[in-house]
Amino acid sequence: MTELMLRFDSNKPRKLKYNLEKARRAGASTLLTFGGAYSNHIRAVAAAGRAEGFKTIGVIRGEPHETLNDSLAFAVSQGMHLLYVDRETYRTKKSHNMRRFLESCFGDFYLIPEGGSNPAAVKGCAELPGDIAEPFDVICCPVGTGGTLAGIAAGLAPGQRAIGFAALKGGFLTKEVAELQRQTYQKVFDNWHIEDDFHFGGYAKVPPELDAFAAKLGDEHGFEADRIYVAKMLYGITQMIEAGRFAASARIVAVITTG
Ligand SMILES: Cc1ncc(COP(=O)(O)O)c(C=O)c1O
Repeated sequence: MTELMLRFDSNKPRKLKYNLEKARRAGASTLLTFGGAYSNHIRAVAAAGRAEGFKTIGVIRGEPHETLNDSLAFAVSQGMHLLYVDRETYRTKKSHNMRRFLESCFGDFYLIPEGGSNPAAVKGCAELPGDIAEPFDVICCPVGTGGTLAGIAAGLAPGQRAIGFAALKGGFLTKEVAELQRQTYQKVFDNWHIEDDFHFGGYAKVPPELDAFAAKLGDEHGFEADRIYVAKMLYGITQMIEAGRFAASARIVAVITTG
């Protein structure tokens, strides 16, 4: 019978590990990154900066709200300085002009992209499979910006496969993951793919069916699956098992990326 193992393993410290090392080696005292108002990544950078002695700046998509939501309140409590930019400007976050503008505001900084996905993050995530003691055939993770899947797949042993579950609609994430692998390893691995059918309408869309599924998981397994990433992946895996899409003998690991 198909075996499903849950692995609680936050992708955030893995994505930040080599970025922090690089920032330190470059002599940077400030980390700057981008994210939405509810970004887990913004929280993670704020906390890591505080713990590791970096100043942190979060460039936040959208207008400021009078009361900060929990994520942003946490980031500020860790000493992060927030800069809000409107959505149109935010879309230019990778541009040279944006970088120049940010440097004129804040001086030098080590830039971590939105979601933390860059080659340093990919290398950190590539260490995840090797830390799993139990033998497995397939490893599953949610996909937001792609760094986690790009790394996990690169860290697999021959014969193992990775499946990413897109948390966003649009079908563009395969390209993003491939590009991250190319930037990191100068090649694209062929041991992974992305399932695009379980995003439930797009990023942060949580219809009642998904909410009910996650609530049942919580009751049965005693953990709160986050609805944006983890619940969508687990729903997808469950559907695929029911549809017979895994070999009967498959040992599957699902990475619960919220830790
Ligand atoms: C809990 C959680 N799981 C998965 C992901 C997706 O990871 P990635 O952006 O590397 O695809 C994120 C976002 O970074 C996340 O916060």
